[in-house]
Amino acid sequence: MDHISRRSMLVGTGAALASAVMGANAQTKAASAPQACPAHPAPASSPAPTADQARRLKWWKEARYGLFIHYGLYSLHGRQEWAVEKEAIPWSEYESLARRFSPKPGVAKEWVRIAQASGARYMVVTAKHHEGFCNFDTKLTDFNSMKQGPKRDLVREYVEAAREAGMPVGIYYSLMDWHHPDGERSSVDEAARKRFIEYTFGLIRELLTNYGKIDILWYDGGMPLEAEGWEAERMNKMVFALQPDIVVNGRNHASGDFSTPEQSIIAANNGRAWESCMTLNESWGYDAADDEWKSPRTHLRNLITCARDQGNFLINVGPTADGTFPEPAVRILTEVGDWLKGNGEAIFNTDPCQPWRPSYAMFTRRANTLYMHVHFWPGSDVSLSGLQTKVKSVRLLKSSTSLAFTQDAWRVHITGLPAEVPDHPITTLVLECESEPRMNLDHELRLAKPRLGVNVTL
Ligand code: GLC
Repeated sequence: MDHISRRSMLVGTGAALASAVMGANAQTKAASAPQACPAHPAPASSPAPTADQARRLKWWKEARYGLFIHYGLYSLHGRQEWAVEKEAIPWSEYESLARRFSPKPGVAKEWVRIAQASGARYMVVTAKHHEGFCNFDTKLTDFNSMKQGPKRDLVREYVEAAREAGMPVGIYYSLMDWHHPDGERSSVDEAARKRFIEYTFGLIRELLTNYGKIDILWYDGGMPLEAEGWEAERMNKMVFALQPDIVVNGRNHASGDFSTPEQSIIAANNGRAWESCMTLNESWGYDAADDEWKSPRTHLRNLITCARDQGNFLINVGPTADGTFPEPAVRILTEVGDWLKGNGEAIFNTDPCQPWRPSYAMFTRRANTLYMHVHFWPGSDVSLSGLQTKVKSVRLLKSSTSLAFTQDAWRVHITGLPAEVPDHPITTLVLECESEPRMNLDHELRLAKPRLGVNVTL
């Protein structure tokens, strides 16, 4: 698919997908629900992780929740990161942004502070997006933040700020490059492809050599070439030779370590690691006019869905021209971060969870503990149908308040709850069970349930 048609597809599906909370179970169980059309789904059958992948991915899987930042010249332009192509802006005009680019001092420290307040446990920041501008010092092009307006190495500032805070460092790198004369031509001209591959390998080598330990390499824009053209296996070989502990995604067309469903939540199979990346409004790079912010609750429900299906969640913010986060982004992220302080045990280090959600709640699990995340608070009582495992106790997670309940074959009925929702934006109940909580999702259960007949009165 070429850039424009792929982009059109993303734009066409983006709004619907962005607002939908779509779990893997939702996809398989609710056939009538709108189907996600991910730009980067997991392969139909994923290769099972190797021992080395399991070793490198351990911290990453435990981290579960990351903050994605798209920052570049497009942040000054303020109409998303594809503007130079979508609006066919002449390069002579677009390049002037590089001279005006002026991130405020200490911007990376501010990003790390917000990431920490949001509860994120790793970060991924753009070193170069499709526009080709390098946010780092490089010997390979003058189109970089050291030679242009900022006169600063923004990647170095970010890496240092993150490391100082103990925050794992992810680098986003776009293979596709609209500024480089060989970028587009590489698909039709072998000499151009060779030059472009040398340039690409050179930039990646600099990024993975000059900044100490890098934890994640987040490839993107694997166009216009395929795996062979990018020499993707050789690329990863170089990456692992330079950074033996790094994890890489599969967007350079090699399989890499994890899949990256975009604006959708689709679990990979076969134990393959996956990470759903999503925007907090509808834009990756800053769009001054985009006010379609997700509510803190929708954002959190997406995180819960990823946790339930054992995936990671990477939430994106596009800072404004000088690197400041839009105010709504800070507010939403901080609200979710505050929630995680009291409820994080239900999100991090959880196990696969079989129970499915009713319309008002979702579930995660750790060992024999079932976490019921109630997003539409029903008032003084909450029910859970079909649980087949004996419940020993129920309490509110944040306050530890014990709750009264009864259980029969069809229902766990929790009573005596406050009429007003106790926690925002979601209230989590903890059900301690006798064994791993399982739910009967089959029709048989409803068949067996006693019914009253027509004309039968009590
Ligand atoms: C899409 C967009 C790109 C963005 C990426 C993040 O591929 O084209 O601009 O950086 O998603 O996943």
